[in-house]
Amino acid sequence: DSPENASLRTPIVAVLGHVDHGKTSLLDQIRGSAVIEGEAGAITQHIGATAVPLDVISAIAGDLVDPDDFDLPGLLFIDTPGHHSFTTLRSRGGNLADIAILVVDVNDGFQPQTIEALDILQRSQTPFIVAANKIDTVPGWNPTDDAPIKPTYENQSDRVRGDLDERLYEIIGELSDEGFSADLYWRVQHFQRNIGVVPVSAMTGEGVPDLLTVMMGLSQRYMREEMEIDVAGPGVGTVLEVKEEKGFGATVDIVLYDGTIRTDDTIVVGGTTEPIVTDVRALLQPRPLAEIRTESRFERVEQVDAAAGIKVAAPDLADAMAGAPVRVVRDRDRDDVIEEVEAE
Ligand code: GTP
Ligand code: MG
Repeated sequence: DSPENASLRTPIVAVLGHVDHGKTSLLDQIRGSAVIEGEAGAITQHIGATAVPLDVISAIAGDLVDPDDFDLPGLLFIDTPGHHSFTTLRSRGGNLADIAILVVDVNDGFQPQTIEALDILQRSQTPFIVAANKIDTVPGWNPTDDAPIKPTYENQSDRVRGDLDERLYEIIGELSDEGFSADLYWRVQHFQRNIGVVPVSAMTGEGVPDLLTVMMGLSQRYMREEMEIDVAGPGVGTVLEVKEEKGFGATVDIVLYDGTIRTDDTIVVGGTTEPIVTDVRALLQPRPLAEIRTESRFERVEQVDAAAGIKVAAPDLADAMAGAPVRVVRDRDRDDVIEEVEAE
């Protein structure tokens, strides 16, 4: 990486949508691992974070993404649960995100949590695209694994194409009913004004190259200035989960969205009664393509740069609160940082 790249942080991408519409499967397809197999009841109960480096994205996207066109280091995906009882987790994910993917099952169309997710994205002013998922379930679908949408679409019979078109236009209509102007992504010029709809299958991987290409393009085009942050500054993040970890006691899984965190740092973490001031004992990083939620073999690292999902081991974290802020003190006044955490 050139020194210029070093100042660009990884965009955070939230994956939102109604229960069972395929959010985890989509990330699973991208990750090429079997996280979904390990999920209790196949319902995502917790937010997880998955870092996908640029070279992996470009390997999946093939001809659609030339790594030389991009200077972002990759994408950090945050999975969220679609079940109606997890509104807080969804808004936490939505508020953290720089950009988002709204997953909609082409058979099921808009459902209550689809609309709730749209509200979260609108309120947080988060640019997003729609993944119209499960295109492989259109009766008579002739799949080509991992293919971009165009060749696979042309490979279908007229009837199948017509059937898919009908479902896609229904989704575009539903977006319009919610006040969003939308179209199929290849017809969209300004992704800020119009929502791009990308037909995909999390099962066959069809359309996934397109989805990653559009996400990279969207972040590169509209997020670049926001990505050029002071990555060397003291870290700022949000607690996703507080977890007991063998040999470490209570730990926090955080998403770091600004600056750095190091093993010798003092941090302030929002707690259930008051801010917790503690010293980082270990930073435990899942391997690049693993998911923080299910990865058990962590790698100890000395420093992490935003954006990243990282597990922090430190004394006194038992009363840390999910959704609370985390701030690195470094060479600032400790009381100022405590005040910042209290004010958030
Ligand atoms: P929650 O986390 O509970 O909100 O669900 P989710 O959106 O993460 O859905 P998940 O990925 O768990 O998928 C739900 C079901 O749909 C699973 O049985 C998947 O195998 C299936 N599924 C997901 N994507 C596709 C797809 O593209 N095609 C087909 N045929 N099935 C899919
Ligand atoms: Mg899920």
